[in-house]
Amino acid sequence: MDFTDQRLSYEKGELDKASVPKSPFELFNAWMSEALEEKVQEPYAMSLATCGADMKPSVRIVLLREVTDSGIVFYTNYESAKGQDISENPNAEALFFWHELERQVRISGSIAKIDAQKSASYFQKRPHDSQVGAWVSQPQSGVVENREVMEAKFDELVKQFPKESNVPTPEFWGGYEITIEKIEFWQGRANRMHDRMVYSKNDQDSSWQIDRLLP
Ligand SMILES: Cc1cc2nc3c(=O)[nH]c(=O)nc-3n(C[C@H](O)[C@H](O)[C@H](O)COP(=O)(O)O)c2cc1C
Repeated sequence: MDFTDQRLSYEKGELDKASVPKSPFELFNAWMSEALEEKVQEPYAMSLATCGADMKPSVRIVLLREVTDSGIVFYTNYESAKGQDISENPNAEALFFWHELERQVRISGSIAKIDAQKSASYFQKRPHDSQVGAWVSQPQSGVVENREVMEAKFDELVKQFPKESNVPTPEFWGGYEITIEKIEFWQGRANRMHDRMVYSKNDQDSSWQIDRLLP
C-alpha cells in the first residue's frame, strides 16, 4: 500500500507562547477536558514507551487513570513485559493523539510504582470481572497455550471469589506514576507549520521553562 498522496491540512487551533499557562498541568487538563467534550473516544488512552536493558523500545496502549500534582498514573501488572522494562530503566514516555482536535501530547519522565495502598483502593473499585481478569492474566505478557486455559482459570477463580465477594488485590498488580519532567503540546497547523510548545522542569526551583520547537 502507498499513502504518499494522503494528506490533511490541520487548521483547528493554535498555540502561542504568550498565551499558554505557566503550568503544563493546566494546559493538559484543559486539552483533556476539550477532548472529552469533543467526544474523542477514550482520550485518556495513551501509548506508553519503555525500554529495558536490552535497549529495545516497546510501546503499547494503557489507560491514564489520574493526573496528580506531579505526573500521570496508570495501572498494570508489575510482572508484565513493561514492568520488566521499568525495573531495568526508570525512564518512560507517554503519548496522546487526539485526531479530532489535531493535537498530540508527549510526556516524558521517570516512572515508579505508586503506593501499594493507593493501588489496592483503585483495584477494589474495579468491576468484579476485571478484578478476576487481573488474577487470570498472571504473568501478563507470558505465553498461554490457548484461550480455553484462560477461560478455565477465570471460571475457577469466579468459583473461589463469587460476585459480591472480596477479590484480594494481587501483589503483582498496581499503579505506576510518570513524574513529568518534560511535556510537549503539539497543535497541527496548515502548511506543516505546526505549533510545538515544550515545557521542561527546572530542577532548581520546580518552575517550567517553555520553548517553541520547530515543527
Ligand atoms: C484501549 C486499550 C487500553 C489498555 N489499557 C491497559 C491498561 O490500562 N493497563 C494495561 O496493563 N494494559 C492495557 N492495555 C493492554 C496493553 O496495550 C498491553 O497489551 C498489555 O499491557 C501488555 O503489554 P506489555 O506486554 O508491553 O507489558 C490496553 C490496550 C488497549 C488497546
